[in-house]
Amino acid sequence: MLKITFSSSMPKTVKTLVLFAADDKKLSAELKASAKAVDFEFKKKKFHSHTGSKQADTVVLGGLGDVKDLNDKTFEEIGSAMVQNLKGEKAVVELDVIAKHDMGKAAALMAMGALLNSYSFDKYKTKDKKKNDKKKLKEITFVLKDTASAKKHFADMQKIAEGVFFTRDLVWEPANELYPESFAKRVKAELAPLGVKVKILNEAQMQKLGMWSLLSVGQGSARESHMVIMEWNGAPKSKKTKPVAFVGKGITFDTGGISLKPGAGMWDMKWDMGGAGAVVGAMKALAGRKAKANVVAAIALAENMPSDRATRPGDVVTSMSGQTIEILNTDAEGRLVLADALTYMQKNYKPELIIDLATLTGAILVALGHEFAGAFTKIAEDDVKELQCAGHGVGDMVWPMPMTDEWDKMMDSDIADVRNISMDKWAGSATAAAFLSRFIDEGQKWVHLDIAGMAWKPKATDSRPKGATGYGVRLLDQFIRQTIEK
Ligand code: BES
Ligand code: MG
Ligand code: ZN
Repeated sequence: MLKITFSSSMPKTVKTLVLFAADDKKLSAELKASAKAVDFEFKKKKFHSHTGSKQADTVVLGGLGDVKDLNDKTFEEIGSAMVQNLKGEKAVVELDVIAKHDMGKAAALMAMGALLNSYSFDKYKTKDKKKNDKKKLKEITFVLKDTASAKKHFADMQKIAEGVFFTRDLVWEPANELYPESFAKRVKAELAPLGVKVKILNEAQMQKLGMWSLLSVGQGSARESHMVIMEWNGAPKSKKTKPVAFVGKGITFDTGGISLKPGAGMWDMKWDMGGAGAVVGAMKALAGRKAKANVVAAIALAENMPSDRATRPGDVVTSMSGQTIEILNTDAEGRLVLADALTYMQKNYKPELIIDLATLTGAILVALGHEFAGAFTKIAEDDVKELQCAGHGVGDMVWPMPMTDEWDKMMDSDIADVRNISMDKWAGSATAAAFLSRFIDEGQKWVHLDIAGMAWKPKATDSRPKGATGYGVRLLDQFIRQTIEK
């Protein structure tokens, strides 16, 4: 992991020195001269590197852009963009004072952006490992006056980044390595040492609880299904006794089952556990920074495979809630595992609010692409607004989606209480949400986040490497900060 340090004095020898300035700032004579020599303006996220200076082997000029546009988000973006413009193992960043900004916080935000963007998953690269490791950026030192403020702000951010990296690692991991049992074990190994209570249910235990909806999804697989339940009691004396609950879809591989998916692109379905990944990453962040909040979480883990034991289209199962489900399409499996996890959480914790995260439907990609998760709710509109705002602040975007009784009616079954797909091909994300809502008790506040477009991004952006995004970790962390720890 990229090492971040803050120092009030310039190190003796500097290989790469990054000098940031705003484009409308009065520059020092030296900076002005070097910018002019290479025809550089300090526009936002623009960089220019040149060699040979008294101060360092390489000097990188970095643009902060218009001072008026600088805020938490832009500082983070600039830090993130910087990573792509640095070569070598170590860099020193000099931060000048910008009026009206807490430069300690600004440095911490830039460091957070740099850290998050420096991530790569190279666990399975054996060949060029040494060569690539050499090229990798290993340390950034920020030189500024107020190191105390920078360190204070960065302490929490680093814990959140560790949560994001945990999620990304899990999402990248291929399904032959990450299956329900190995996933559960990894969660316990990561979270228990931080003080999170972790309970793992195996199939026999879930059978006793009547989780036949969840079990029906994994029954075609050689890998045993699991559920992991987590508790973080960061505010033991809090008057709000009811916890917030997170629930995550954890399909470690989704072939579609007997309703088999086409081969092209099926490899993407290794990240059909992105919701569960986000939930455990958020728990790691909260526990890591010792959040003063009581949060419980459950992840429903199964592998959806076709086999002679697999669920057939038309099968009817009884869920933990007692409701019967007609499974018309075995590829609509996320909702089946979530149904029992939602029931379990309501029965055991009576949460103040439940937020579920799931790579649930391809249809949400049609609606919102890779830019927003869709948020569905019946009575928790205020919490959706709060999530939307929290997400905006940290770059995990959320957009509200509608729910209506018409879509609910479409989930009535001819043979059972509910069917797992509607007979209409439209509004696929909304009918999925309607199915989930059948498993939410009257008066229970609940938000469903469809993150199918967010867990994985096929292309790198300025602020994120391509692949696993870690979406949801910062969103949930920020939501808890805003609503519970305020
Ligand atoms: N895991 C998929 C949803 C998905 C699609 C996630 C693309 C990420 C990218 C889910 O289990 C699924 O197969 N959903 C079906 C539902 C349909 C059968 C009603 C879908 O979206 O097509
Ligand atoms: Mg599916
Ligand atoms: Zn799925």
